Amino acid sequence: MANIADIKDELAKVLFQKSIIDFGFVKDIEITSDNSCTLFLDITSSAPEVEETLRKEINETLGKIGVTATINVKKPEAPKQQSNSVSGSNIAPQIKNFVMVSSGKGGVGKSTTTVNLAVAAAMQGKRVGILDADIYGPNIPRMMGLIGQEVEIVGNKAKPFSAYGVDVMSMGSLMEEGQALIWRGAMIMKAIQQLLRDILWEDLDILFIDMPPGTGDAQLTLAQSVPVTCGVNVTTPQHVALDDSRRSLDMFKKLHIPIGGIVENMSGFICPECNTESDIFGMGTCEELAKQYDTQVLSNLPIEPAIREGGDAGKPIVYFNPESVSAKRYMEAAAKLIAYVDEVSDKASNEAIQPNTPPGVSACSTAGAASTQQSSHNSGGCGCGH
Ligand SMILES: Nc1ncnc2c1ncn2[C@@H]1O[C@H](COP(=O)(O)OP(=O)(O)O)[C@@H](O)[C@H]1O
Ligand SMILES: [Mg+2]
Repeated sequence: MANIADIKDELAKVLFQKSIIDFGFVKDIEITSDNSCTLFLDITSSAPEVEETLRKEINETLGKIGVTATINVKKPEAPKQQSNSVSGSNIAPQIKNFVMVSSGKGGVGKSTTTVNLAVAAAMQGKRVGILDADIYGPNIPRMMGLIGQEVEIVGNKAKPFSAYGVDVMSMGSLMEEGQALIWRGAMIMKAIQQLLRDILWEDLDILFIDMPPGTGDAQLTLAQSVPVTCGVNVTTPQHVALDDSRRSLDMFKKLHIPIGGIVENMSGFICPECNTESDIFGMGTCEELAKQYDTQVLSNLPIEPAIREGGDAGKPIVYFNPESVSAKRYMEAAAKLIAYVDEVSDKASNEAIQPNTPPGVSACSTAGAASTQQSSHNSGGCGCGH
């Protein structure tokens, strides 16, 4: 039969730098039956790993003398902190939330998704910005109808453009058109930091950041410069099978960035003639992927010619054709994402780690109204088999 002295002797062997008895973590021991006890611990760390390790070691140690323990642990509240800050720094503290839009590969619709999610979020009343950090292929200016517009410089900072209720700045607007740069590590870091620090971003609820494809220096720099609220992964259904999307989701995990969700893009085809949706690349593969990463599918976006046309013309579909299937899905995806962002920032305000407010912080952007244009249903002769 177990007694307190034996249990104490055994517990003295559980080392936590010193033993947990020496540390005074063990506040009380109650014998509950011949071979079981209840332990009351009071520990100083709020980190879940510490509690987990202690439980495991205590169970192993007491198991050796045939005693099972019910362990009650008292520990301090976890400090309120942005859940993901790698470095604890924030070089753009006037922005409440940063959403990093990533993909494993280029050409999967990352920029298209960024634009439509951002405009959708603005249409839902949020103060929104887009930072086009895709230094290799900055195409947000085209998609937001800003090609050819000159950047306005105030002091030594650049003012973001405004389109469809969204503030926008792009590496593409800051470089000469067609100018090719070979980006190396240190330059990438500097460019990303300047896009956050030297742009006159207003007070925003959400800054969407269109990242270069892949998982390189730009991603790391961003995570080290601002507390990223969450990441969004854009993938096409067939890329899920190629592991590209996994790499980008693994990167979020490594950088401790909560995953806001996956957008399955080019999932099925909506025929512009008959409006029927057909499966091209395989649909729904992201559902399983989302489960594996404990996240959600924000939406499945079909291949819809109007999405590309809207991108090329600088007229995002969500704003210009709000009745289309795709626009509705973008709106739904934005609503889910906003709910997630609010949940993360409720749990962990990033104000505590915001070091200072830089000069030049000003008022808010406004959400724009949408025009309506119903797509027509026409079942004749479109050649897609319906
Ligand atoms: N769901 C879609 N339906 C039709 N065209 C799309 C869709 N998503 C993206 N596109 C088009 O595919 C091309 C690549 O998209 P883009 O957003 O530039 O990809 P990325 O930023 O990942 O390189 C663009 O021409 C875009 O208009
Ligand atoms: Mg792009």
